[in-house]
Amino acid sequence: MSLPELPAFPTTRLRRLRRTAALRRLVSEVTLRPSDLVLPMFVREGLGEPVPIASMPGVVQHSQESLLKAAVDAVERGVGGLMIFGVPTEKDARGSGADDPDGVLNLALRRLYAELGDETVLMADLCLDEFTDHGHCGVLDERGAVDNDATLYRYEAMALAQAQAGAHLLGTSGMMDGQVGAVRQALDSAGYIDTGILAYAPKYASGFYGPFREAVNSSLQGDRASYQQDASRSVADALAEVALDIAEGADIVMVKPALPYLDVVRAVADVAPVPVAAYQISGEYAMVEAAAERGWLDRERVVLETLTSIKRAGASIVLTYWAAEVANLLA
Ligand code: PBG
Repeated sequence: MSLPELPAFPTTRLRRLRRTAALRRLVSEVTLRPSDLVLPMFVREGLGEPVPIASMPGVVQHSQESLLKAAVDAVERGVGGLMIFGVPTEKDARGSGADDPDGVLNLALRRLYAELGDETVLMADLCLDEFTDHGHCGVLDERGAVDNDATLYRYEAMALAQAQAGAHLLGTSGMMDGQVGAVRQALDSAGYIDTGILAYAPKYASGFYGPFREAVNSSLQGDRASYQQDASRSVADALAEVALDIAEGADIVMVKPALPYLDVVRAVADVAPVPVAAYQISGEYAMVEAAAERGWLDRERVVLETLTSIKRAGASIVLTYWAAEVANLLA
């Protein structure tokens, strides 16, 4: 390998278009729009007042009331959608609260849909970990391992409850094999042909989920490495997940986390025939907030830079806890 032969131009010529803000604006290519951003929100059962999440400064566990208010506010600011997570009071081995029509998440979806209707895109996390006492994304077999196929039945029931409650898109985030196909079939046979699937694929077993455990009062011991992807595998593993999910009926595919996996975002965006989303997760949020709090980073600048990099890598939709704030900044 050798360097290309360079033309005999002065090397400073690339700086000509960087000289003024107007020139830079004229030639800018990646732009952030409020409607590309989705705000993830947590609602916890039995709360009168919202409770701050210490490891995610500025993010709270909402009460049903405060969720509604914050959701309407975010939609008014122009965000593209909302992704709702529920935190139940009672957890059990099968995650019973997940498909209970009066469970915290389904109740919230129903109230949000009654208020906002089709004005926004209402999304629901379709996974058991918020609802199980062991904290895993599925049900366990006798040996304590996550039982893939038994979990699919639980996801089907959860999907029907969420569709019935008014969710437009279901976020299948549990990383069970066959989950998208199982959910698609359950929705179709019950007549929910218009309810879509936002498939978390690829989703990596990541240390950056740390603050999320506090956000959903998770009781997880251990990790999710037996079902989430391994960071050391090449992008071929990610593309296999994407191909299967699309074949099974995914309407949108999502890469998660975002920043440490931008190569994967790019690889998926290059080939996926469906829209590609990326989730800037709790730990990505927390590390910027923590550094900014110490005065080590210019917070606003870094927030916009991370979001721009995720879009530049090829994601057209970004889930971010900064969605409402950034929508304001861009207005
Ligand atoms: C699964 C789920 C998780 C997140 C979104 N959906 C947790 C996990 O997979 O361990 C993480 C989101 C974040 O960290 O911001 N219910």
